[in-house]
Amino acid sequence: MTGERMTGNRASSAPLLQVKDAAVHFGGVKAVDGLSIELTEGKIFGILGPNGSGKSTLLAAITRFVDLTAGEILLDGEEYHTLPAARVARRGVARTFQTVRLLPGLTVEENIRLGADRVGGRGGADGVREAIERTGLKGLERHRPGELSYGVQRRVEIARAIVARPRLLLLDEPTAGMNQSERQEVSALMRELQKEGLTQLIVEHDVQMMVDTCDHLFAMNFGKLIAQGDPAGVVREPAVREAYLGKRWSQHV
Ligand SMILES: Nc1ncnc2c1ncn2[C@@H]1O[C@H](COP(=O)(O)OP(=O)(O)O)[C@@H](O)[C@H]1O
Ligand SMILES: [Mg+2]
Repeated sequence: MTGERMTGNRASSAPLLQVKDAAVHFGGVKAVDGLSIELTEGKIFGILGPNGSGKSTLLAAITRFVDLTAGEILLDGEEYHTLPAARVARRGVARTFQTVRLLPGLTVEENIRLGADRVGGRGGADGVREAIERTGLKGLERHRPGELSYGVQRRVEIARAIVARPRLLLLDEPTAGMNQSERQEVSALMRELQKEGLTQLIVEHDVQMMVDTCDHLFAMNFGKLIAQGDPAGVVREPAVREAYLGKRWSQHV
């Protein structure tokens, strides 16, 4: 995944992704409520926010799992929020889910291959092998998910998401249920993928990991953006501490 390949066809210098005044309402619940963010290519972005603040819904909107109630999303400066969900992977947007969603009857390798099938086999056998190597899953190809630790299953999910060489990878709580060394492995993997030019947006509750891993943080509360910027600065903002960090962050400083 060279920078040239990923940016080669891009006409403008627009950010990779722009979310503009986006809202997602479920009946009376304003899960996302007038939120604007921009993702520039090649950076690792993070979203912090208490449970129910709309983080997963925002990711669902960016992968077209849910429709916007209002606002717009642009990819490479072009309208994206009306794209059929089935076309999202082909546009280079991939995600992992908050809960492990591997098919238990398939092997690791078969699960990963599904990620390539979603984009018409892009990546192919070489892509599958490469994704296995990049995520440190070599030797585990023939295992079934149930035989693997939770942390390894997460890596399989990440491998499945990157096999089609996305430009933007969305990770929803990828280290939930992991121990410290598994978390550090995920963080290191994200940095490696960044070196190859992959833009990433991660939702994660581990504040220290977010500060260490991300280039830019967004903080959400009640569907709105309450702060953004340099990670160390964001987690020190009073509004962010009040909304979210009180207990968690006071343990770190
Ligand atoms: N499909 C849905 N239908 C109805 N309400 C939903 C749906 N998805 C999320 N919500 C609600 O939207 C709000 C934001 O949820 P979510 O995006 O999952 O938050 P987070 O990921 O930050 O914990 C919550 O009040 C949640 O109950
Ligand atoms: Mg969530």
